[in-house]
Amino acid sequence: MRVLLFATTTGYQVRAFDEAAAALGVELQLATDRCDQLEDPWRDRAIAVRFHEPALAVDTIAAFAKAMPVDGVLAVGDRPATMAAAVAEALRLPWHSHAAAQATRSKLRTRQRLRDAGLPVPDFGVVGSEHDLAAWADRGPVVVKPVVLSGSRGVIRADTPTTLRRAWARVSQLLAQPDIRAMRDPDSAFILVETFIPGREFAVEGLLSHGRLQVLAIFDKPDPLYGPYFEETLYVTPSRASARVQRAMESAVDAACRALGLTHGPIHAECRVNDHGVFILEVAARPIGGICARALRFKGPKGATATLEALLLRHAIGARVDRWTREPGASGVMMIPIPGPGVLRGMDGVDRARAVPGIDDVVLTAKVDQTLVPLPEGATYLGFIFARADSPSDVESALRTAHACLAVRMDRAVPVI
Ligand SMILES: Nc1ncnc2c1ncn2[C@@H]1O[C@H](COP(=O)(O)OP(=O)(O)O)[C@@H](O)[C@H]1O
Ligand SMILES: [Mg+2]
Repeated sequence: MRVLLFATTTGYQVRAFDEAAAALGVELQLATDRCDQLEDPWRDRAIAVRFHEPALAVDTIAAFAKAMPVDGVLAVGDRPATMAAAVAEALRLPWHSHAAAQATRSKLRTRQRLRDAGLPVPDFGVVGSEHDLAAWADRGPVVVKPVVLSGSRGVIRADTPTTLRRAWARVSQLLAQPDIRAMRDPDSAFILVETFIPGREFAVEGLLSHGRLQVLAIFDKPDPLYGPYFEETLYVTPSRASARVQRAMESAVDAACRALGLTHGPIHAECRVNDHGVFILEVAARPIGGICARALRFKGPKGATATLEALLLRHAIGARVDRWTREPGASGVMMIPIPGPGVLRGMDGVDRARAVPGIDDVVLTAKVDQTLVPLPEGATYLGFIFARADSPSDVESALRTAHACLAVRMDRAVPVI
């Protein structure tokens, strides 16, 4: 069996897929647009593709697949997920359709499809000029966001005409930055404005098999996300929401997948729940981002255990995964926020944080001397804290206690970017 893995980095998740493939006897072939930056830890050399040239990339992979038959695809990250869908379609492998994966990449198309399917959505519209912004000036709290970025980058809440103008100008400036223009995505210039949805927020990790949704985990996000910026911090599973609310979330995610045309492969959805129901914020055609996946482990038939990546690899080769469920007990992750702009000089208290009961690991991903840019412009975290315990509240308090042990050393002098 051979599975193609689309990725732009060789981070945790790619290594986890590699380990899972070795254990299952599956040959994993990497396809990436970063061949020049890889150390080539692969049996075969990675296939070089350009994610912004999907037609060409599909031809390259189709030529490869003629010589080396491919049984499934997987992807790490948003752009690779769209590429994987295009390739799966060309190779006639079961997967999310390319159109569906593309729709999930655009917050505008996502909103349109959910609205057209009759699902609850906030009022929304693309705002291309300060002039168009006037229509939103008296709408109460709204959220300004780029149509294609992720990780809450450029997402800003505005409650007054003045803050709205400032937010829109700030997002416009962000979208003019070289790293965003380098994505060469035609949608990356657009800004969406939508009404603010109050409520509690959750993330739903799922796996679709020929249109049938298997919910792998529902994560509570116990830190309030009121804005003006929306930094992700805590994810804790299982959810403490009532069984009724959890069922409502599952059926809302199921309906959203249908509306978007997602049918086969992993999904990561985010939603807000209030008295009016479940509002799907977005559904990504890929698993939970990178290292956060370590918060999930599964148990299967005959006492077998698996990482999320091992489960997804089984699914990619057409093996049954419906008897796998999340491990017993609770788990969670804290994405360690960047305290402010500056240059990272070090982190104290890591050993103390690791020693907190329930803490599995503390992983620092930011590098010493790295310039840290907080949200809404930035796109990084300091690192991640993982916990496992009997109950979700024990996980949450372990994560908070461990986080409180950490002392970030930074030079606050803001460098000129
Ligand atoms: N309309 C909205 N109402 C309330 N909160 C929102 C709204 N849109 C976005 N947010 C907040 O901002 C976060 C990031 O927005 P999202 O659209 O998911 O963009 P991203 O792809 O960057 O994650 C959400 O998780 C949520 O907390
Ligand atoms: Mg999101």
